[in-house]
Amino acid sequence: MDPTDLHLFVASSSYENDLIEEIQYRKSLTILKKDSGMIWAQGPKQVLWWPQWQMWNLQKETTESISQASKILKSNGKYWIGLDYKLHRRSALIQEGLFKTKLPQVKRGQHAELPKCGAWFLEDSNQIYFTTDISIPFKNGIPEVPEDKNAPSRAFQKLDEVFARLNRFPSKNEKVMDLGSHPGGWTWVLSQLAGHVISVDTVALDEKVGKQKNVEFIKKDAFKLGPADIGNLDWFFSDIICEPERLYAMVSEWRDSGLVKNFICTIKFKGKVDFKVLEKFQNIPKSQIFHLNANKHELTWVCLA
Ligand SMILES: C[S@@+](CC[C@H](N)C(=O)[O-])C[C@H]1O[C@@H](n2cnc3c(N)ncnc32)[C@H](O)[C@@H]1O
Repeated sequence: MDPTDLHLFVASSSYENDLIEEIQYRKSLTILKKDSGMIWAQGPKQVLWWPQWQMWNLQKETTESISQASKILKSNGKYWIGLDYKLHRRSALIQEGLFKTKLPQVKRGQHAELPKCGAWFLEDSNQIYFTTDISIPFKNGIPEVPEDKNAPSRAFQKLDEVFARLNRFPSKNEKVMDLGSHPGGWTWVLSQLAGHVISVDTVALDEKVGKQKNVEFIKKDAFKLGPADIGNLDWFFSDIICEPERLYAMVSEWRDSGLVKNFICTIKFKGKVDFKVLEKFQNIPKSQIFHLNANKHELTWVCLA
């Protein structure tokens, strides 16, 4: 499909303003319309940080009927996800005329290849928008994370979601470190995946998590722990509440040591989003930054070897 430079960004609920500010910060995109959390923008394709879902280079066609709409989609790709937007009954009938799309299930410790899918929606009963250029193949951009009643905090959802999104996670022969780990949601998830989990916080872990055989808890200020204290790490995790600049400085020290393969960190914002520091994270080679469904006023930075 040729680029049309027309994009739809679906805002994460409660974070529409952050998305709008991001688009304004990036300058090369012009906002055309804002409609119930859907931001239409024009300009060269950009992978944004704040949207829940991104549909780039939208195509538009006029359709006379439901069957014609299904036909248009089928002639442009095999698998399609409908965006929940407008005209739900009509949209459901169009979707029924398409191939069934088997979307990946989020299951901790299980790999699920992300299928090649496009996304579509109706703007009114005769106008269909679609594209095969989308950010992730999950309904409305949200990977549904299964409940885990044994996890000591809801933060477990962030790791399950990010691992599903990346289709990568630590394995039994790997050593990982989790900074800012109390009460232990992330350490709980990691203890089921990795061989050895170093878990660091100034506050003790939930008892059940701390008792896991492969968990080594260090009660310490994470900023006073350096690469020389720990050695090689396959994965570095941080969910510490701190200024983004402070996180950047810490991550830079660990990167410079050359001892860490993969990083996953939460960049948290108090008040206004610091877009300059986000650019610094983005400029680290192989970086990705996105807003997980489980993220609050924060983003997830990923840098995989
Ligand atoms: C959002 S909570 C982490 C939740 C955790 N990821 C989980 O899954 O349960 C942030 C944690 O960062 C810790 N923290 C803040 N500053 C820290 C520091 N300098 N060193 C270590 N931990 C710190 C806090 O004690 C707090 O437990």
